[in-house]
Amino acid sequence: MKHFSKLCILLSCFAGTVAPVTSAKQGAMHQHTTVSQLTDAYTYANYDQVKANHVYLDLNVDFDKKSLAGFVELTLDWYTNDKAPVILDTRDLVIHKAMAQDSQGNWVHVNYDLAKRDDVLGSKLTIDTKFHAKKVRVYYHSTEKASGLQWLSAEQTAGKDKPFLFSQNQAIHARSWIPIQDTPGVRITYTARITTDKDLLAVMSANNEPVTERDGDYFFSMPQAIPAYLIAIGVGDLHFKPMSHQTGIYAEKYILDASVAEFDDTQAMIDKAEEMYGKYRWGRYDLLMLPPSFPFGGMENPRLSFITPTVVAGDKSLVNLIAHELAHSWSGNLVTNESWRDLWLNEGFTSYVENRIMEAVFGTKRAVMEQALGAQDLNAEIAELDEGDTKLYIDLKGRDPDDAFSGVPYVKGQLFLMFLEEKFGRERFDAFVLEYFDSHAFQSLGTDNFVKYLKANLTDKYPNIVSDDEINEWIFNSGLPSYAPQPKSNAFKVIDKQISGLMAEELTLNQLPTKEWTLHEWLHFINNLPLTISQKQMTNLDQAFDLTNSNNAEITHAWYLLSIRVGYDEVYPAMAEYLKGIGRRKLIVPLYKELSKKPESKAWALDVYKQARPGYHGLAQGTIDTVLK
Ligand code: BES
Ligand code: ZN
Repeated sequence: MKHFSKLCILLSCFAGTVAPVTSAKQGAMHQHTTVSQLTDAYTYANYDQVKANHVYLDLNVDFDKKSLAGFVELTLDWYTNDKAPVILDTRDLVIHKAMAQDSQGNWVHVNYDLAKRDDVLGSKLTIDTKFHAKKVRVYYHSTEKASGLQWLSAEQTAGKDKPFLFSQNQAIHARSWIPIQDTPGVRITYTARITTDKDLLAVMSANNEPVTERDGDYFFSMPQAIPAYLIAIGVGDLHFKPMSHQTGIYAEKYILDASVAEFDDTQAMIDKAEEMYGKYRWGRYDLLMLPPSFPFGGMENPRLSFITPTVVAGDKSLVNLIAHELAHSWSGNLVTNESWRDLWLNEGFTSYVENRIMEAVFGTKRAVMEQALGAQDLNAEIAELDEGDTKLYIDLKGRDPDDAFSGVPYVKGQLFLMFLEEKFGRERFDAFVLEYFDSHAFQSLGTDNFVKYLKANLTDKYPNIVSDDEINEWIFNSGLPSYAPQPKSNAFKVIDKQISGLMAEELTLNQLPTKEWTLHEWLHFINNLPLTISQKQMTNLDQAFDLTNSNNAEITHAWYLLSIRVGYDEVYPAMAEYLKGIGRRKLIVPLYKELSKKPESKAWALDVYKQARPGYHGLAQGTIDTVLK
């Protein structure tokens, strides 16, 4: 298998033609794709005139220079008869030369212009092809500044022996390592040849053969059309272990077995999701365990979700993250938001589907607790955010999409879909969602087209259940509608009573049934302890349950946040290690924010940050620089 694909790509690439990898179905679909309007404000690409349909990447991974070097080849479809350049997105790239292939198959040098760098968009690359080129090639290398890559030295990894590289393209970071039409409105298939040190393994969001010879020379093919934000690469001292016929884990040795044990329900999740939402269309589904500095919990790179090690808790308590990234195989990767204003179409649907998978695999009690935890976080976040940023269809106002990131598209989006489910009943709503995924497969759409589809296929089809005003309120207004679902967990009601009893000193700690508590009950407990809690009570809790040193990163996060708020200073030494050890934004940014509210704790935070910063991903550095400025 491997040798066949190697040879095939080599031949085709040196002959100047890449073998078509699109299936008949995608080929047919492609003809219908026309762009009348450009809806994405975050690309320079003239994708109404010319669109790439396939990308071939030929890159060497150089850990000494922290650079990817080689070329990208874009196969183009033209949608205009006029002369037009090919405009690509780039950021902090060094461009060496550009070439174009004419209809006779000849490659010629062509002129290009690299514009001045815009802080948000990067540098517009205009390739003056002079004719409607079938293909263009850009020879280039990425620099240390690449916002979409994190290069870790051997010492920064757990094994301390070999370096690690990973990409994070969403939202607009693909352009920092590939000159490309970096918009979710353009889909491409891709192939790649990646060379690197002989003793390292490279993986991509493509076909990863479980049995791959470790020789530093790797070939990939992604035959399904995806947007640029889903191209992904990881390189390191990776080893593979299967979990089922379809799923497996790539990880550094230190965490491989623990991850396999933690995530061995992944196949069951796929099976349940397929029952509800139609076939999983991507072949294998593997997980790549990233270093602790990964700034997200997970990233839904197709066929290979990227996962933070902070969810390997030992008790499967945080595996909703896997359900989430898997759910993107339908919402996001199959049916894609056409611009970053429409992120809620990706994340709201995914949060909803995630929770349905959790319910199917782990039962209603857990699924409802997860809804309730999300809703409580959302309410707290809405209270802090600018009103405009609490709309589903958000006005990004020219900001970097990373700076407008919040829980709103996730949980408000999920609550909207729960509302529809409640109103129309699960049977009708599930049929609607299934058909929505199927009819938009391998396409991108925006909020306006979604609303049209929703009306035609649900709210007008079954009239007088949900009004247009209600739909508009959910999508275009700030905050939550007064009639939004309020997930209520009976288990949490019990905890609320116990908190009251504890605070009134009618209950003692050893009367709490904590042996039976799940992570969710613990989180609800800690999050809802009153800020009037005494130092003595904090000390007692810590002595009884050693929360300061919990192995569960969500528990320590919640406990440290409370401790900062109520001035329980015992946690500081452990919290310093926590902040230096992990780089997941969701876990560390709220702590830095809380610490920055008082001069003394801010000084302490600045000191810790000074030590931690070099190990953080650029994205986390950017956010925390702003928080502590
Ligand atoms: N696709 C997102 C991560 C993302 C969103 C990156 C927007 C850049 C811009 C991913 O699927 C995600 O949502 N991760 C969450 C998972 C959680 C909600 C279970 C995370 O990282 O915490
Ligand atoms: Zn997501």
